[in-house]
Amino acid sequence: MHLEFLFNNPPIAEANAPAKIILCGEHAVVYGQPAIAVPVSALRVTVRAYANSPGISGLRLVFGEPITQITLADISESPPDNDPLALPLWLTLRHLAQKPPNVTLVLQSQIPIASGLGSGAAVATALARAVVAALGQALEQAALNKIVYEVEKVHHGTPSGIDNTVIVYEQPVYFVRHQPIETFHIGAPLTFLIGDTGQSASTRVAVGDVRRLFEAEPERIQPILDAIGDLVVLARKAIERGDSEELGRLMVRNHGYLRQLTVSSPELDTLVKAALDAGALGAKLSGGGRGGNMIALVTPDTQNPVRAALAAAGARRVFETTLG
Ligand code: MEV
Repeated sequence: MHLEFLFNNPPIAEANAPAKIILCGEHAVVYGQPAIAVPVSALRVTVRAYANSPGISGLRLVFGEPITQITLADISESPPDNDPLALPLWLTLRHLAQKPPNVTLVLQSQIPIASGLGSGAAVATALARAVVAALGQALEQAALNKIVYEVEKVHHGTPSGIDNTVIVYEQPVYFVRHQPIETFHIGAPLTFLIGDTGQSASTRVAVGDVRRLFEAEPERIQPILDAIGDLVVLARKAIERGDSEELGRLMVRNHGYLRQLTVSSPELDTLVKAALDAGALGAKLSGGGRGGNMIALVTPDTQNPVRAALAAAGARRVFETTLG
């Protein structure tokens, strides 16, 4: 079979991209407030490009268990607008003014899907990078970031651009929509546990619901968005001076505001409470919410009890990431 033939040979190119977490400011960032996001380099999407076996032509994509195979031979006239897998390939080929290479891309991901960890942006980034590498071409980060942003519109509707930016540049970002990308200093290392509710949730739906809430009650919602923006400014300062206790307090406050925006869930609230009860400095949902993942800021002393508390409270998986 074609796939077996593929794996007898080494890949001709390989590319990858990380997951991300949002430390604070999600949802409000869509309305122009700042937000802080960091890459999670230990969780990655990898795409390997293999030369097609004789008699097989076109650009193919293979992924999943059981294996799903898509042929992308028709990347020609119009963009595959509603296909978040074909679209980054199409946009990349158009940008490079190249025809599809005669390869099979094999996609493997460690990032849970629809869980607030940026799986969509990471997949698009790794796919675009793989096709660039298979063609022996180069693509600037800024151009790649624009391509992945276009794909994010398929996933999210009206994305702020924070997910594609933190994932493409793989750096901590202090992000304000339509403004130049800013990174920042990390005064002291910060360790976060990432607790997965195991429930997938659509960021598009959550973002759309916040939009409806905002349009129905702007006088109640605007102050919440402003308050989130204010705490993000304070959170950046706390991170820069290495004040993890203050950052933890701000995360808790941020979770309260996200609850008011209706994007938490009973499972997220349970994991946040379990982490705080076990001694985390702060905890909050991260990303689109309504399911997906939460984060807890821990110290060396509280890391193990918080991990155990998250597992006992129903977290399906607990990942760890350190910043700085
Ligand atoms: C999703 O990771 C973050 C949101 O703020 C949406 C966005 O910024 O595009 C919920």
